[in-house]
Amino acid sequence: LITRAFRRQFIIPEFQDFCKDIEEIYWKCKDNSNGKVASYIPQLKRMSPNYWGVSVCTIDGQRFSLGDVSIPFTIQSCNKPLTYGIALDLLGSEVVHSYVGQEPSGRNFNELILDHNKKPHNPMINAGAIMVCALLKTVAGPEMSLAEKFDFTMNYFERLAGNEDLGFNNAVFLSERECADRNYALGFYMREHKCFPENCKLKECLDFYFQCCSLETSCDQLAVMGSTLANGGICPLSEEKVLKPESVRDVLSLMHSCGMYDYSGQFAFKVGVPAKSGVSGGMLVVIPNVMGICLWSPPLDALGNSCRGVQFCEELIKKFNFHRY
Ligand code: DON
Repeated sequence: LITRAFRRQFIIPEFQDFCKDIEEIYWKCKDNSNGKVASYIPQLKRMSPNYWGVSVCTIDGQRFSLGDVSIPFTIQSCNKPLTYGIALDLLGSEVVHSYVGQEPSGRNFNELILDHNKKPHNPMINAGAIMVCALLKTVAGPEMSLAEKFDFTMNYFERLAGNEDLGFNNAVFLSERECADRNYALGFYMREHKCFPENCKLKECLDFYFQCCSLETSCDQLAVMGSTLANGGICPLSEEKVLKPESVRDVLSLMHSCGMYDYSGQFAFKVGVPAKSGVSGGMLVVIPNVMGICLWSPPLDALGNSCRGVQFCEELIKKFNFHRY
């Protein structure tokens, strides 16, 4: 890192200038008072609408953070691309995609629908993510207990974050499980259509899904996970190869087409980079071969995306040509 610094060989050579621009956009978005904090469980409802954090980690480990970047929040749906990546790494794309599709659903993230093959549309919506959890839970190692599988997955996440300790919010987990009628309905609907791998225990599978949503992270940590994706699966901080490049390619492709709920098409059009948002207001953004960005602000727009997060991305693309096309 030091040698590169002397030679000015960083992917963003004028990093200080870049950070100044990020700062400017940050303050502009701070004034955005649109949106509502998720209220389906009390732990999310209590989150302050004023929280606003931006963290950046480049593929060569340059970092910048501003605002509420160390406050823990539950990862919620931002776990979906990561658990999908782990499943791809363990099982390969062919196996994973014999259970879940690659098509945007064009519907709500928790809609009770399957595609024409009677598979969930993609791993970024609830049905698909529940299926990915079933795969991790059964095919990857049926002999593992739920506890072992949780530790195993947690360890993967921590390696994606450069060996940082992540948390687990038990209150959120318990609440998720209490308010999960729709997720149970999705599970039963998929079981009715014989979507699951053999030996899948539905209740355990859903518990595992709620646990993955209840992992606690911070803006800083999630930006590092994003940078691991931006760097083809090698964490820029630990230099460990955590995911295979072919798994990362699949993950980014589906984040690009399906990561932003029913705004995914517009986001791909306007911003043009892979991203995934979650109901706690987190947004994982990947600029391939450049950096990972995490944006976190709890107020959500009508489609479920963080208002400040989306605005930040749109402003960023006005200033820098990160759009893939
Ligand atoms: O399954 C749920 O209802 C939530 N825990 C999922 C969270 C979320 O961010 C929605 N995303 N697709």
